Amino acid sequence: MSETTRPHPHLRVTREGAVLSVVLDNPTRRNAQTPSLWLALAEVAEQLDPEVRVVVLKADGPSFSGGIDLSMLTPGGVEGEVSMLAPAAESPEAMAETIAPYQRGFTAWADVDAVVVAAVQGHAIGAGFQLALGADLRVVADDVQFAMRETSLGLVPDLGGTQPLVDIVGYGKALEICVTGRAVGAAEAVASGLASVAVPGHELAATTADLVAAILAAPEPAARELKPLLRRAASSSSRDDQLRHEREAQGRLLHALVTQRLAQAGPTGPDADQQA
Ligand code: ACO
Repeated sequence: MSETTRPHPHLRVTREGAVLSVVLDNPTRRNAQTPSLWLALAEVAEQLDPEVRVVVLKADGPSFSGGIDLSMLTPGGVEGEVSMLAPAAESPEAMAETIAPYQRGFTAWADVDAVVVAAVQGHAIGAGFQLALGADLRVVADDVQFAMRETSLGLVPDLGGTQPLVDIVGYGKALEICVTGRAVGAAEAVASGLASVAVPGHELAATTADLVAAILAAPEPAARELKPLLRRAASSSSRDDQLRHEREAQGRLLHALVTQRLAQAGPTGPDADQQA
């Protein structure tokens, strides 16, 4: 049984058991993104039911997302959306403060227990690329084109994308991708670790479903410990800290496993006969 909600006019969220699909559904505008969409994404992530084990971020239409709605950068803006130009005109600090809550629409996915998979087809430009980078894993269609176009517009990527991009492809390649704004296609995405796998577009949904099934097949307590453990490893500056996190996670898992086995085995030892 599935349940669908619509937290934003351009966002469809469907729950099926332990899987939540978060779908950008404004394909005629190539899923162009606005601040209200970013706030809605942040809310979905921050209010995620802990029973959800996998989130799939995906998009309707030929392109995952053409990035920020470019009208946001014009004096008229987008009807119903806050102005981006007003805080920019006020001061650098006011603009930076305005951006902070929008970044959560991208970074909050790293903080959820569930494994987050982005299924990406066609263009994933600017904020579209950064949203895909906010996921833990990316499955791509063979027509994918990731491009970080912010620099070409005189800006920088500011929606949480810089850290995962550098972590995945390394500083030099990240700089080159951002400064040129060039497209990264499917083969390069897989070779550089941006994507786990690339498949023909008509196989994207089935391949994503296979990955979701494989994640769900992992023992749940171990899968829940694994994501924060590996996330910390990527950002951890101290080997000792990471070793502590490993043994603490293992301690919790082994304690739970052994306690469960002992409970299943029933009472043993010298007092067992008396207890029986
Ligand atoms: N903002 C506003 N409208 C957009 C956006 C966008 N980012 N992307 C697409 N659209 C609109 C188009 O204007 C067009 O509208 P129209 O039908 O009223 O003319 C419609 O979506 C379809 O777009 P096409 O360009 O016709 O579609 P196509 O598949 O040929 O190209 C592509 C898609 C590559 C995404 C192209 O639309 C494009 O280059 N968009 C702008 C990309 C961009 O520079 N984004 C900003 C990056 S920086 C950032 O995100 C922070």
